[in-house]
Amino acid sequence: MTVILQTRNLYKTYDKKVKAVQGIDLEIKNGEVFGLLGPNGAGKTTLIKMLVGILKPDKGEILFNGIKLNGTTELKGLIGYAPQELVFYPFLTVLENMQLFASLYSIKNARKRIDEILELFQLTELSKRQAEKMSGGQKRRLNIALSLLHSPQILFLDEPSSGMDPQSRNVLWESVEQLKEKEGVTILLSTHLMEVADKLSDRVAIIDHGKVLTVGTPDELKSKHASIETVEIQFAKNISPLIQEKITLQLKDKYEQLSTANDRFFIKTKNGLKAISDIMKTIESLAVLSYLQDIQLRLGTLEDVFLNLTGKELRENNFSFGGDRR
Ligand SMILES: Nc1ncnc2c1ncn2[C@@H]1O[C@H](COP(=O)(O)OP(=O)(O)OP(=O)(O)O)[C@@H](O)[C@H]1O
Ligand SMILES: [Mg+2]
Repeated sequence: MTVILQTRNLYKTYDKKVKAVQGIDLEIKNGEVFGLLGPNGAGKTTLIKMLVGILKPDKGEILFNGIKLNGTTELKGLIGYAPQELVFYPFLTVLENMQLFASLYSIKNARKRIDEILELFQLTELSKRQAEKMSGGQKRRLNIALSLLHSPQILFLDEPSSGMDPQSRNVLWESVEQLKEKEGVTILLSTHLMEVADKLSDRVAIIDHGKVLTVGTPDELKSKHASIETVEIQFAKNISPLIQEKITLQLKDKYEQLSTANDRFFIKTKNGLKAISDIMKTIESLAVLSYLQDIQLRLGTLEDVFLNLTGKELRENNFSFGGDRR
């Protein structure tokens, strides 16, 4: 796979003190979906703004198709950008917004392209609705739809799932997959939501404090940095403290990494399936099977990767007010 976009030692400081991006080196390959995952304030938007040419880096280089970027005009037409803040005309309808953006980009056969994109983002039935009257998730979809009318080579989506409910997110997953398949467009997306990065990205860079902590496919990162699995066991609420104590003692004997909360036991292990089989034997030998309500294996997640690399949770900064945070 060829590299479409490369950054070398990129830096950006705001007001001489906020070090938003501190030496980022990345390579984005042609046709991949690349996720930037990091907590609020990690520097994702700052990085994207430099990549799309809105913000000038203090230091470092950006190369598109191997050519060093000097200004912004050379990018017009090649890139699409759906910013974190929604950008469209609120008083125009969905269709009028599409037509206006199509004319700005002098798109040939605009109506055909508009219909395709409306369909892709399931906006066809909303085409006559005034943009400001749509729901948060629908507005977000329009924002993304407008950014790719001109068939860019690379699309930047800053927090594409912001304000979306699970149903709208499903539309997003499907549209991104179709975009990749049908148009071969390279997509760089930022998110502070582990689930979004995991589901959508071929590769992910986890960033914090303006630095890349690690890069790889979600599976690579999980097996490298989150190989520990968790077995979660739930007992019935009416289990007596005595029996609970007995189970705890037996399990503690075998598993050092045992913790309890309410009626649940959590066991961290490298081999979850073997642990489940052993735990079932223990439960049977104690004749407490009838109290067992649930036993589950939780594999490592990108959240665990972040936790293992930084000692803090992605989620702790993960404020969500149902939409934009600025
Ligand atoms: N225009 C600005 N002036 C001063 N500081 C800024 C400006 N824009 C961003 N920052 C600061 O730079 C840091 C990185 O911000 P950035 O918006 O890049 O983070 P982010 O990873 O996109 O976060 P989020 O998940 O909240 O969107 C933050 O500390 C932020 O407060
Ligand atoms: Mg941001």
